[in-house]
Amino acid sequence: MNKLFILTCLAAALCFKAVAQEISIDKGWKFSTGDSAQWASPNYNDQHWKSIDVSHNWEAQGYPDYDGFGWYRLHMVIPSTLKEKAYLKDSIRINLGIIDDNDEVYLNGKLIAKYGGKRGPITTSNYGPRTYVIAAANPAILWDKENTLAVRIFDTGGDGGMYGYKHSIGMANVMDNVNINTDADYIYDDDKMGLSKTIRLITTDHYLFKGSLHFTVTDPEDNKVLFETTSNADFAAGKPFKYTFNIEKLRKKSYLLSYTFTDEQSGSTITKTENSPYLLTPYASNKPRINGADVYGARPGNPFLYLIPATGKRPLVFEATGLPAGLRLDHATGIISGAVYQKGTYPITLTVKNNQASKTKKFTIIIGDNIGLTPALGWNSWNAFGLSVNDAKVRAAAKTMAGKLSQHGWTYINIDDGWEAPQRLVDGEIMANEKFPDMRGLATYVHSLGLKMGIYSSPGPRTCGGYLGSWQHEDQDAQTYGDWGIDYLKYDWCSYSEIAPKNPGLDDMKKPYQVMRASLDKIQRDIMFSFCQYGMGDVWKWGAEVGGNSWRSTGDINDSWGSMAGIGFNQTDDGPYAQPGHFNDPDMLVVGEVGWGSSQHKTHLTPDEQYTHISLWSLLSAPLLIGCDMSRLDWFTFGLLANDEVLAIDQDALGKQAHQAFKTNDYQIWIKDLADGSKAVGLFNTSDKYQTITLNRHENDLAQYTKIRDVWQQKYVVGIWPNYITKVAPHGVVLLKLSK
Ligand code: GLA
Repeated sequence: MNKLFILTCLAAALCFKAVAQEISIDKGWKFSTGDSAQWASPNYNDQHWKSIDVSHNWEAQGYPDYDGFGWYRLHMVIPSTLKEKAYLKDSIRINLGIIDDNDEVYLNGKLIAKYGGKRGPITTSNYGPRTYVIAAANPAILWDKENTLAVRIFDTGGDGGMYGYKHSIGMANVMDNVNINTDADYIYDDDKMGLSKTIRLITTDHYLFKGSLHFTVTDPEDNKVLFETTSNADFAAGKPFKYTFNIEKLRKKSYLLSYTFTDEQSGSTITKTENSPYLLTPYASNKPRINGADVYGARPGNPFLYLIPATGKRPLVFEATGLPAGLRLDHATGIISGAVYQKGTYPITLTVKNNQASKTKKFTIIIGDNIGLTPALGWNSWNAFGLSVNDAKVRAAAKTMAGKLSQHGWTYINIDDGWEAPQRLVDGEIMANEKFPDMRGLATYVHSLGLKMGIYSSPGPRTCGGYLGSWQHEDQDAQTYGDWGIDYLKYDWCSYSEIAPKNPGLDDMKKPYQVMRASLDKIQRDIMFSFCQYGMGDVWKWGAEVGGNSWRSTGDINDSWGSMAGIGFNQTDDGPYAQPGHFNDPDMLVVGEVGWGSSQHKTHLTPDEQYTHISLWSLLSAPLLIGCDMSRLDWFTFGLLANDEVLAIDQDALGKQAHQAFKTNDYQIWIKDLADGSKAVGLFNTSDKYQTITLNRHENDLAQYTKIRDVWQQKYVVGIWPNYITKVAPHGVVLLKLSK
């Protein structure tokens, strides 16, 4: 990370509504892959370069799977009226949207800013929003003349380029160093249907801010302002202004909360808006209930571990009849362990009791060749911690999972990249680095909670984060994982591109996965095998044959609507290939506190977008891997992850993936067949306004489906035959289960 004569203002910038005059630089960009020092120069003739839309990554615009250097160039006039109209006249601000991953910015041939490097140890986390501030007196700026802005980007993998919204050049404003900090948790009052929160106005400037804060609550359905208030608000560096709101009688929907601060002296204003969270998932009853999938697969002779997921007031007492020889149940914890040598399908009856009631459930254990019969439910360190993952963070995740989520079927605790030591032992054995002093001990701890542990590697010499991969050590690594007690391996292509031929054919793509498959097969352990190669070669067509339990079908997700919806709603070609034991993986969840590094932030997805994310991933039979800091699991995120009827759609034993049944520019209907003959139906509003969506049961083979259940709210709803008509929030969903 390098600072030249610049000040970077990263994360917050996107949330601000700037009031200073700005010019948009959203349009007119030219693009070329490759790299040349000449491309920085204003004299270089870029007329033959292709035009590019900077609202989307380059992959989406004719450069699929392209990693490496790419240059963007734009010619534009920077008018001096910008400066004249501004209250502060010292600096200009250049907003480049999101850069994926590292950039250098040249204005008229002069390097004016850069962020990240070509290949640092933490290259992937350089992805993010970029706003650069440079002095208005910088001689690189040609006021009122044509300027050439050239952005050199190095993409380390996955999506790449300069994208997102509101690329602009404007004067730095008095508000640039003001932050309306809304990070505090919302306090939710279920009885009063109330929300409260304290927000803070913060600055790092020497300027004394004096003015007012205007707070409004608007219903986005009809744009009516339900509540508004104005308070005096003065603040300065080190002396923030705090404002606490308390609103009640809310409905189960998201409202638009808006905070506007106006500074008296300069007349400048800054606004931040957010969408309020709301809870749909009912609280679990005190009465016992057995959750989780109806089937579970294990291989003969391998260590067996299954925690019966059950809610209800503790203590619970667990019983199981029909367990095959070799398995024993711990009646107090609900952990079934042992090993079964005889292949077969074993129907089991599980019972769980407490002092209030008793509940049974039919369950099937299949001992055979196939594991992962339903998609994995777990946590992975990447979206939260990136390469900063360590033993303590993993233990904290395991503890939260055991305390709150394993009752709903959540099982895997997966360590992503960043655990590997810099060197192998002399005999080639892989070691964990100092952040993981005792990998075996960690796995033992995770297992003691009834949970399972996963790990990450690459078939190449290096992982995507630059750590050691398994290249030419596959057998040895599989053996080590087995010794440690690993239950899940994410195997990430990364530097295998240096090993594979330049334009790999299908066989080349399959090869590294076949090699590791063979190595895993030599281990007496059920290790879920998760391919990560971003969908190359239509992996869904051959992932099962090569022995993958899941395969990533896309590049890396991030916590934006564009990324999540772009991935989720495009899972159509791969749909027919999902089956028990083999699932498409549209990447990990981006709900809760995410960050891909040492600091985390609340996901930038709105609450409705998060309901969409979990509903869509469940309809897609996707592995659900929570990507947040589990030690900061708030009530809203917990509600998203602990809805047993939603999870049951993901975990359905039929293992089918939903198909897109209907699509307009504003909404989509996705339908999934379920094992009991019923159908899960997602009514998704992909627009940014409320939509009325009609599900017509004369269509889509739904003629006999008379019962409609709202899955998130876990209650039956009525539709006037043959339709079910409902309003759906912007970017939101209504998830239904239809039965005969
Ligand atoms: C790739 C993968 C991510 C993550 C990182 C780790 O980008 O797609 O999910 O595993 O590598 O470096």
